[in-house]
Amino acid sequence: MKRRDFIKKTALMAGAAGWANNALANETKVSQLALGNEGQQIHIADQGPLIISAPMLQNYAETSMGVAFAVSDLANGYVIVGQQPDLSDGEKVKCGGYRTTEISDRVIQVRLINLQPNTTYYYKIGADRIHYGGGYDMKIIGNEEDPRIYYFTTAGSRAPAHFCVINDTHARWEPLGLAIEKIATLKPQCVIWNGDATNVEETIEAQMRIFLQPEIERIEYASEIPYLFCPGNHDSRGMANRHLEKVWMYRQPEERASRDWDLGRNFAVRMGEVALIGLDTAEDKLDTNPIFAGLFNSGEYREAQVAWLHDALQRPEIVSAPYLVAFCHIPLFDANPHANPGDVAPADKDPQYTTDFAMWQRTCAQLWTPLLAEAGCQLIITAHQHCYRYDAPTTDRSWAQIVGGGPEMGFSGSGENRRERPELFPTVIEGEVQGGKLVVKVHNLVTGKVQEEFSFKRRS
Ligand SMILES: [Fe+2]
Ligand SMILES: [Fe+2]
Repeated sequence: MKRRDFIKKTALMAGAAGWANNALANETKVSQLALGNEGQQIHIADQGPLIISAPMLQNYAETSMGVAFAVSDLANGYVIVGQQPDLSDGEKVKCGGYRTTEISDRVIQVRLINLQPNTTYYYKIGADRIHYGGGYDMKIIGNEEDPRIYYFTTAGSRAPAHFCVINDTHARWEPLGLAIEKIATLKPQCVIWNGDATNVEETIEAQMRIFLQPEIERIEYASEIPYLFCPGNHDSRGMANRHLEKVWMYRQPEERASRDWDLGRNFAVRMGEVALIGLDTAEDKLDTNPIFAGLFNSGEYREAQVAWLHDALQRPEIVSAPYLVAFCHIPLFDANPHANPGDVAPADKDPQYTTDFAMWQRTCAQLWTPLLAEAGCQLIITAHQHCYRYDAPTTDRSWAQIVGGGPEMGFSGSGENRRERPELFPTVIEGEVQGGKLVVKVHNLVTGKVQEEFSFKRRS
């Protein structure tokens, strides 16, 4: 899609939701006063809305929150945040960090830091339209604020323990829309998007369409329910996906040690009685596979996460949590002897396995699961195989594994090749502490029913 068409389409969607029209009127009024350097009036009233998406809350945490939204033109965005519902105590926080702001003509990312745990904050988004004619020729030529006041609640040991997981949505709007509607009825504290949200994305616009402007009815899906992200193998593919952080920001730099500077995706968050641990299994092919042309570095990345995980599991708020649940995209166990374990050098090919890519990740299992098991992790929630499965704990493996379903809606193929496959359905995995247990329900989005339910005892 050409950028102009894309903007037109997203503006239309925004207008349908009712949050851009007021802002557009506001911007038109301001923009008529804008003058260029020579005193000439700059006409921008016909440029359409500046803010072209609802805000998305990224990286749920105890003391910080990320807010991202899409813009149609060069803009300096901001968030007004406070604890009063009318924002009478609101403070403006601009995009970017120190030294300069991060003006953008596509995605505004605002990091809210120094927040209180277990606390509800109210916020609204806005942006100044910027005329940039050079280092001494910068002007604000319009302003737009989304009139709606949203809210979010930070994580912490007193937060309600209630999460949902989605995975392998692969930019397919039907399963994503169903998942988002299910989540809207469940009202969790946060959602973990467990990878393969994308396919192979070459442009930021394509990434914006997936995360900020998905073609679903509930386009404010992440404006009040914060998200966490564990990337899947697809989320590193394509030139734009090599820097997905331009659309889905990294965790706050101050949330990790300098040793872990490049580990922007891992998270260890306390939510009520549950500690949530996020890991990144990275690609499903070896770095040595010729198809990758030496352009991936998953091996060292997996190893670097060991030290991070070791330290995260020692943090007081994580140690004291009665339930420890880990998330990563590629499964860390598979009982099927024909499932490729992802360590077949150099090119992932071996006739004993049914695929020439990893169906599960033996290297990650060997690196991470001893630490998780020692910490008493009850459950690891994974994805990637596009078929829901539960692996009960055994005498050799103290943790359970749930593999979330994929985007297939009860059949595979199309046309003459279409086959009924009732075992293939998208899932929303819901975890909630109830009656002294962690109750996990797997919602089948094809039948609309709970497929299976499990409960986990407190760790000893
Ligand atoms: Fe997938
Ligand atoms: Fe995958």
